Amino acid sequence: MTDSTWRDTLRALPVFTEDLPTFDTDAAPESPISLFEEWLSAAIGADVAQPHAMTLATASPDGTPAARTLILKDVTDEGLWFSSLDTSPKGRDLAANPRAALALYWREQGRQIRVTGSIEKGPREVSEKDFLARKPAARAAAIAGPESEVLSSQQKFLERVEEAKAILDFRPDFVPDEWTAYLVKPQSIEFWQAARDRDQIRLRYLRGASGWHKNLLWP
Ligand SMILES: Cc1cc2nc3c(=O)[nH]c(=O)nc-3n(C[C@H](O)[C@H](O)[C@H](O)COP(=O)(O)O)c2cc1C
Repeated sequence: MTDSTWRDTLRALPVFTEDLPTFDTDAAPESPISLFEEWLSAAIGADVAQPHAMTLATASPDGTPAARTLILKDVTDEGLWFSSLDTSPKGRDLAANPRAALALYWREQGRQIRVTGSIEKGPREVSEKDFLARKPAARAAAIAGPESEVLSSQQKFLERVEEAKAILDFRPDFVPDEWTAYLVKPQSIEFWQAARDRDQIRLRYLRGASGWHKNLLWP
């Protein structure tokens, strides 16, 4: 397919087709975490597909960016949590440059949330609890081999998963040291609401010395 055919095909795709929720920014709470929880509850209530899937962007020390999808594991007053191996490329980025951006997109509701902030490793017991709550296959996959390194064959992976399962059968409480619960402490959170007529609404919270400041942004 040529570039121009793709352009026409893509242009013909609808972006927002559903009934979209309203966003009363005058009624927005003082804390963006409260609004995040409101929107997350609404997304879950509206059966949004995988509302806990989010994009995490990191940057290496030389400024090379990388983005990947992760699962949101928790929301607390401190911020948003995800889990990963700290030996992975993202873990190495975060060790060198403990700042990140998150983006969540809930297409059924025409909603986007963008977060920037600093990253901290959570307490060890949070990481352990998180790992032990994973399904056996997910635990085995996490310890089967070095994440994101070159793999010689899929068969090799399957063999290593079987070995990992045997280890976990023998030691069901095993948690690899590398498994890490990360906390994103927000510096800014932007809530973006689409409307079918393209009247987008953007509300950004910025953390200041005395608390959160919120402002509308030009769409
Ligand atoms: C829906 C979805 C959820 C995912 N959840 C996680 C997760 O919670 N933690 C994680 O480390 N990787 C998760 N992954 C895999 C990551 O996207 C990524 O492939 C992996 O962590 C390696 O990333 P890195 O090489 O940038 O470190 C998920 C992928 C998808 C598509």
